[in-house]
Amino acid sequence: MNTSLPRVAVLASGRGSNLAALLAAREQGELPVDFVLVGSDKAAAGALRLAEAAGIPTLALDPRSYPDRRAFDLDLFARIAASGAELLVLAGYMRILDGDALRPWVGRMINIHPSLLPKYRGLHTHRRALEAGDHEHGASVHFVTAELDGGPVIAQARLAVETGDDEHRLAQRLLPLEHRLLPAVLRLLASGRLQWDGHAPRFDGQPLPAPLILSDHGLGDPDLPLAE
Ligand code: GRF
Repeated sequence: MNTSLPRVAVLASGRGSNLAALLAAREQGELPVDFVLVGSDKAAAGALRLAEAAGIPTLALDPRSYPDRRAFDLDLFARIAASGAELLVLAGYMRILDGDALRPWVGRMINIHPSLLPKYRGLHTHRRALEAGDHEHGASVHFVTAELDGGPVIAQARLAVETGDDEHRLAQRLLPLEHRLLPAVLRLLASGRLQWDGHAPRFDGQPLPAPLILSDHGLGDPDLPLAE
């Protein structure tokens, strides 16, 4: 463990491609953080195997071993705190979090969600965007609050919907953008450029009036063109 770097824990329930993107960014020297723990509610999650291969401590907790959501989340967050993590990333973590249990992490916890929030909180975001006839879809990274997928949005990656898109194709085309968006936002948070003032995000000391937008050049001004 390199104790001079910000310490980050990641929670993931599935295959872990967003975790892989974080690890790759770190390997490439683009994300100077120390991953101290990868946790999951699914012992079989691919994300745990990725973490093991990268030499990162892992944690698998089974929600069925706890009397209720709050008990599970309190134990989970206690263990994350014990890992020394200062920041927490939800990278495909598919459980709703208890509002009281998550409170100590507000402002230090981000989530990636596959829609242009505030559109399509919850599940089946690609299908819902197609059914609505949207011309534009995307992904958002937001601070996690007690409101499901409802915390302040920090940054978004936009994608033009194409004629041949179905749910699967749209998800596949969006994923590479997610894989750039999440490390870029974590980098800002870890560097201190992105902060939480108790109610809202601040970027370089200023309120963030609109989400940052991912372009070929990284995160920047919302008026930049669409990512293709
Ligand atoms: C991603 O689409 C993410 O936006 C959503 O869940 C999916 C996780 O994929 N929250 P992976 O496990 O990171 O591959």
